[in-house]
Amino acid sequence: MRTYLVTGGAGFIGSNYIHYMFRKYGDEIRIINVDALTYAGNLENLRDIEKRPNYTFIKADICDREAIEKIFSENDIDRVVHFAAESHVDRSIRNPEIFVQTNVMGTAVMLNCAKAAWELPDGGFQEGKRFLHVSTDEVYGSLDEDGGYFYETTPYAPHSPYSASKASSDMLVKAYVDTYQFPANITNCSNNYGPYQFPEKLIPLIINNALHGRKLPVYGDGKNVRDWLYVEDHARAIDMVQENGRLGETYNVGGHNEKQNIEIIHIILDTLLEMLPQDDPRRKSVSYDLITYVEDRKGHDRRYAIAPDKIRAELGWEPEVMFKDGIRKTIAWFFAHEEWMAHVTSGDYQKYYDEMYQVK
Ligand code: NAD
Ligand code: TYD
Repeated sequence: MRTYLVTGGAGFIGSNYIHYMFRKYGDEIRIINVDALTYAGNLENLRDIEKRPNYTFIKADICDREAIEKIFSENDIDRVVHFAAESHVDRSIRNPEIFVQTNVMGTAVMLNCAKAAWELPDGGFQEGKRFLHVSTDEVYGSLDEDGGYFYETTPYAPHSPYSASKASSDMLVKAYVDTYQFPANITNCSNNYGPYQFPEKLIPLIINNALHGRKLPVYGDGKNVRDWLYVEDHARAIDMVQENGRLGETYNVGGHNEKQNIEIIHIILDTLLEMLPQDDPRRKSVSYDLITYVEDRKGHDRRYAIAPDKIRAELGWEPEVMFKDGIRKTIAWFFAHEEWMAHVTSGDYQKYYDEMYQVK
């Protein structure tokens, strides 16, 4: 039985990936999820799989070398899938150091521990061991509004402390591949959306605020473009790259689904009104009048857009969920999980929100 070590599996994409993997492989695999449970990590995301005999949760910080070494020494790990990171651009602008610590130093610890566990006396690596580093398209910087795409060959030009820290971690992985022929891949994916996404990010924040009749904050002119991918399509891409990608290669993942932020907000409002029954009291809250233009994000990247040509040509990956369907699935999930939203928005979230959006 193949054993996976997933880092950051209690976060948004990691938990969706774990669900996807158990749906796909059932009892054929074993997953160990290591997560520090920061504000973004939530064991409620894994409630329905936590009792599986082939699943183990370990609370640990990826920067804690002893804890990570112990996991490798006690388990024969075949696959590492490395999600754990600080992931929110706005937080990185307010507090960059933790991004360097977790994203750069944490990745260094993960690489070093995997290398030590998998290395053979001749400097090669045990057969079949693979490390997948989950990264972002933001490492490539910003595109002009009128054209161009991010390819795997696009030079790195990160702007935010978040993307700079992810770029640094990607460079470390590439250095391990070049120096030691370490068996790793990198995926650089566009913006994800879907179930379990923490409501500091645009889509769940807008859904939650609209349902509560709160302002919908639009940074700058609202015309910044992001390339949105349903999270399950990302999980499937990660699995395909890890199983069939050429070792040492980077694969860009994205669905050719570019939208301006203001378009996303309009789609969410229209879809909420379509989906909410006529007599649902929440309908009264949902309104275009909530849209509020606020000060722009510092260093706000104008446009991201992925060219997924390589992953399509080499591995046959294509996005399966169209945005209009994905957003309905996402909204339906949030309707069915009001308690989840209530839990994650209590306590610290409120403090973050009030400071970030200067709510008096
Ligand atoms: P998230 O913030 O929802 O989850 C991050 C998880 O990592 C949380 O469970 C958190 O507790 C854990 N974590 C944080 N610091 C840790 C530490 N020091 N030790 C152990 N665990 C720690 O993030 P996400 O949106 O699920 O993103 C996951 C990965 O995917 C990140 O590496 C991110 O850069 C990348 N990515 C995200 C997107 C996106 O749109 N969200 C797109 C492309 C790539
Ligand atoms: P976000 O979800 O934070 O992802 P990223 O910054 O990693 O792309 O933001 C997506 C876009 O939405 C980005 O251009 C910033 C914008 N945005 C707003 O306009 N208002 C908000 O309240 C948030 C959180 C984001």
